[in-house]
Amino acid sequence: MNWRGDQGHKTEKGPSSGGHLGTSPPRPDGIPKASGAFQYADDFVLPGMYWGATLRSPHPHARIKSLKWNPDKAPKDAVCVTVADLPGPNGVKLKTDDWPILADSEVQHVGEAVALVAASTKLAARAALDAIDIEYESLTPILDLTEADKHPPLCSLEMKSGDIDKGFNGSDQIVEGTYRTGYQEHIYIECHAITSWFEDDGTVVVKGTMQCPYFVHASMVHGLALSEDKVRVVATPPGGGFGGKEDYPSMIGLHAALLSKACARPVRIVYDRHEDIIATTKRHPSVVHRRAGVDSKGQLQALDIEVILDGGAYTTLSEVVLSRAVLHAVGPYRCPNVRIRGRVLKTNTATNGAFRGFGAPQVAFGHERQMDEIARQMNLDPLEVRLRNVLEEGDRLPTGQQLDDSTAGRLCLETVVGETNFQKRWKELEDRRANAGDGELLRGIGLSLYFHGAGFTGNGERFLNSEVTARLLEDGRVEVLTAAVEMGQGCAVLFPMLACEASGLGVNDVVISEADTAEVPDSGPSVASRTSMIVGSLLGATVRDLTEKVLAWWGQKHNGSDRPEIANGRVSVGDDKTPFRDIAKQYLDSEGSLEVSNHYKPPEWQVFDDETYQGVAYPTYAWGADVVEVEVDPDTLAVRPTKVTAVCEVGKVLHPAMCRGQVEGGTLQALGWALMEEVKLENGRYLNDRLATYIIPTFKDSPKIEVRLLEKPWNGGLVGAKGVGELPMDGGAPAAASAIENATGLKVDTIPATPERLFEWRQAGRATDEV
Ligand code: MOS
Repeated sequence: MNWRGDQGHKTEKGPSSGGHLGTSPPRPDGIPKASGAFQYADDFVLPGMYWGATLRSPHPHARIKSLKWNPDKAPKDAVCVTVADLPGPNGVKLKTDDWPILADSEVQHVGEAVALVAASTKLAARAALDAIDIEYESLTPILDLTEADKHPPLCSLEMKSGDIDKGFNGSDQIVEGTYRTGYQEHIYIECHAITSWFEDDGTVVVKGTMQCPYFVHASMVHGLALSEDKVRVVATPPGGGFGGKEDYPSMIGLHAALLSKACARPVRIVYDRHEDIIATTKRHPSVVHRRAGVDSKGQLQALDIEVILDGGAYTTLSEVVLSRAVLHAVGPYRCPNVRIRGRVLKTNTATNGAFRGFGAPQVAFGHERQMDEIARQMNLDPLEVRLRNVLEEGDRLPTGQQLDDSTAGRLCLETVVGETNFQKRWKELEDRRANAGDGELLRGIGLSLYFHGAGFTGNGERFLNSEVTARLLEDGRVEVLTAAVEMGQGCAVLFPMLACEASGLGVNDVVISEADTAEVPDSGPSVASRTSMIVGSLLGATVRDLTEKVLAWWGQKHNGSDRPEIANGRVSVGDDKTPFRDIAKQYLDSEGSLEVSNHYKPPEWQVFDDETYQGVAYPTYAWGADVVEVEVDPDTLAVRPTKVTAVCEVGKVLHPAMCRGQVEGGTLQALGWALMEEVKLENGRYLNDRLATYIIPTFKDSPKIEVRLLEKPWNGGLVGAKGVGELPMDGGAPAAASAIENATGLKVDTIPATPERLFEWRQAGRATDEV
């Protein structure tokens, strides 16, 4: 294999069978990944490569008094890079650039990068770290949100609609609550890994595991003070991302490049799990205060919501996470009078960032728990209160956006209740709890309803102006060039399917490129559930345009200018069928190369005002309803989820197996967050920075997950598919909490609902009936 990196993951053959939308052909990357043959970022070999290592702060907050590199104490040929060596501004460029590439005079969290070394082996690099003398003066850290709230926030946001005073005055009942969610660490199986080297012409190459090659590209241009054409970023397909490879690769790319420059060799940085957990981003912990006013029927009249996120030490993507959190805070419910105030607070902990759901799971926990609370206070059941409030077609969101006929909240609720007989069983288990004998296994069932804005928030897509290119290869196939990465979400199989759907080509006629910025245009990051929905639609249109050009030319030549028919890659003129590839080769011989590029244009009606937060924040929403069933040990209060029924409305199911996989994975990830995952910190230091102690659910912990997929296509995109990647992360936690409440009578307004926490609540006599 070439060290410039043909990773062999191109869909050379394409899906082997079918390839029509709505079927489930095998993923081209499936067998190589399952068999271990697949090449990840840490697998390719470069001659003469050095290994990088990072000196990290042991303090949550400290002043750096002195830092000295002692080459005599270091392994031969080792190099060191400090902040003094930075050629450009000391900031990783994301939305802001307040994230230092290397700490300058102060460190702001444990694990913050202070200096870099490289040496000929991993062990030598580690030894080289000991050749740096560093002295700190400890400063007082901010470690909790109460303290953090005494300082200015990293960012804040407020939106309003209607008049909340009027709404509360007209309410029959006021229901208040505070809901808390914890950290979540991504635990992608593949830890961060990036290799960098310089070409003879001064171009820096950065290659490794990442979701957003053009984000890394921009941060390299900024941080290394290079021109755009002197930076090349190649994304190797991530072994899991979940948002954790959205921002941090920009940091590691800079580190690897700085070291490569210092030692004039390729340098690879690979994090071990410990380093990956302490240094990189996590899901923002949250506190959400909600004051709701409801009328005598339990219908929302007013909501005053405060969303507080723990941003960690630097802003990075927090503004965007907060924006999605605020826009999802009311949930899939009608409410005429709303005020939402959001802020992200600074603490002396590692920066928090993107994680599947991007702020929405945090607020969904609050809106769903409060719905259950309203139900209790109004003497309704969890289904009834939701049916009375659920958004319907024609209703307006607090942004003023009027919902169209792709609105599916009621449909999801009705479907999940039909599948589970929720209402009846919830009531039975409420009664059973009231009469439960000592030592009896406790059982509970819980419901959640949720929606997720599909694609980038607000004007994000307009600003991104994503571009996709299609070109004819010499053998007559069509190569599609995008910056999207296959991180398990399935674009390697979906992109050819979408291209064929739009163009009439056969799946074997389409090749998907590697995400290499030297080759591909900026089709935007692989985030925000946008890859199939946005990039997929754009590439479909682009391949269609290219195909049409070839067909028009062929028509002129052979068909008296009528456009010939095309299906499954075969072009027909009368009874005559010719493979598209043969025609394409003739086109190339006669007309020369052919390349078509298109930019994504959001629908004209997708207009959003960033100042007032009025307008269309998302062109459409995907909807979901979950029912979670649990067993709770009456002595240990250990919770075992036994079954989840997840109903997701995704616009259009492109590949049923992949789509179900997204829902199963997201649901299990949500249950992990709700029940067991816990980042334990003491004085800003990590206590459980390894897989033996940061526990995520394995297949043995997984309940049976029944998935029902529904389709209400939206009026945009190629076939009306909505994003599905993040949606299933929103519903599992509140439904699990609700089920625990149904089983135990304990009021679960904080997650993770670990046995320790439940036990504490039981000791404190904290019951739902007493609120
Ligand atoms: Mo994401 S959490 O938008 O990668």
